[in-house]
Amino acid sequence: MIHPRLLCPGGRNYFIAIMALLFAPGAEALFPPPAKPAHTAKVQVSKAAAKPAVAWTAPAPFTKDFSKPMAVPEEGIEAAVEVMRSGRLFRYCATESQVAHAEKEFAEMVDQKYALGVNSCSSAIMIALMVVGVEAGIKVLTNGFTFTALPSTIMRLGAEPVLVEASADWTMDLDDLEEKAASSGASVLLLSHMRGKVCDMDRVVDICARHNLRLVEDCAHGCGVQWQGRQLGYHGEVAAYSTQSDKVINSGEGGFLTTDDPSHMAKAIYLSGAYERRYTKHGTPPPQELCEEAMLTMPNLSCRMNEVTGACVRPLIKNLPARVEQYNARYRAVVDVLRRRAGDHIVVPEQLPQVSPVGDHLNFYLRDVTPEQNARFHEVCVGMGVPASWFRSSVNARYHVNWRKYGAPSYELPQVDELLSTAYDLKLPPYFDDADFPHLAEVIAHAVNVAVGSEKALLEDGAVRA
Ligand SMILES: Cc1ncc(COP(=O)(O)O)c(C=O)c1O
Repeated sequence: MIHPRLLCPGGRNYFIAIMALLFAPGAEALFPPPAKPAHTAKVQVSKAAAKPAVAWTAPAPFTKDFSKPMAVPEEGIEAAVEVMRSGRLFRYCATESQVAHAEKEFAEMVDQKYALGVNSCSSAIMIALMVVGVEAGIKVLTNGFTFTALPSTIMRLGAEPVLVEASADWTMDLDDLEEKAASSGASVLLLSHMRGKVCDMDRVVDICARHNLRLVEDCAHGCGVQWQGRQLGYHGEVAAYSTQSDKVINSGEGGFLTTDDPSHMAKAIYLSGAYERRYTKHGTPPPQELCEEAMLTMPNLSCRMNEVTGACVRPLIKNLPARVEQYNARYRAVVDVLRRRAGDHIVVPEQLPQVSPVGDHLNFYLRDVTPEQNARFHEVCVGMGVPASWFRSSVNARYHVNWRKYGAPSYELPQVDELLSTAYDLKLPPYFDDADFPHLAEVIAHAVNVAVGSEKALLEDGAVRA
């Protein structure tokens, strides 16, 4: 039977979604029939120690598509079409290079002297590691909770990742870093600001100085994120950013490497594919003698950014500050609902006061839930149209155990395991309407209340209900 709350305006889409959900497994618990007083009383009159299950009302299922990335602004589309008409897609044959302009604009945005456009953040990381001297046999400290691209790239260079624990706020655990910096023999720290979450950078710099570690920052999710009022990425010798579609600057694939060090940039430019004297065509070229030297010593990895990509990123670099405000207002609306409606069971990690974040993703974990309740939460949440992804699934590319399949070293990381066991990730698409954000938060809160509530009812009734 359909819960009366679901007979709400919304037309055909709601009807289809409702019918699909009604016939899905476990639909009864998802849409409980209107509470019968006797039944509700049975659940609510419980032992003092147990929290009564509440008779909640279900929000409408969420029907918008989370998979659609942010569109390229018209200005970028026109510039990209112009590039395609001209046939000058290769950055070094452009007469007025979009990539070179993008490099200047990106360098300005991140407040670094030099920026290099490349074909992905993973390429930027690989080049960054090479310019700080990573080669076969070297140990590189990195996060035990980050994207698989990091250990993969370290291993691609024949180096060895040393995985560091995570803290409750989802950043690198700096006590574990300190210990592994002292004991592992690593000479480089590749620090990932996973999902734009930033650890105490003053302490990171101090640890690196004391243990002679060269610092590379993975700012894949860091565009617009600030530490002490300045764009993140300035503590390390080199930083890498992503413009892949899940990020706040979308060019499908793409990335930037940034640095203040002219010698690093000269090497990076050559490595990225500026063979012969093509360094002259770069947006932020370092002094010529350094580029000449790099030309004579560096190999070519052909990781260049192409002109269509350059055209797409430029308007998104320009309008990022305005978009950050919107991301954050909507993020706050989501967190507000989660805390009000399900604060007992949903924890949204807080950032340090030095951080000005960008709320383009929602990350949270469930507390005080059993594995069954966690699974039920996920099933209900996804079933109602909010595809939060579970970080500890057997295919999640951000879970360190899943990196072992390609030979990444095994580390015992109980804090990461514990954290990720009920941790979730959700994009907050910028093309949704303002009202969609509290709505999707209502669905998440409802899902956890269903999961926890049905478990409590089961305990108190002593009866098994779906
Ligand atoms: C934390 C982190 N670092 C690096 C990358 C690699 O970025 P790209 O896909 O641009 O190579 C990603 C990808 O999403 C990521 O999540």
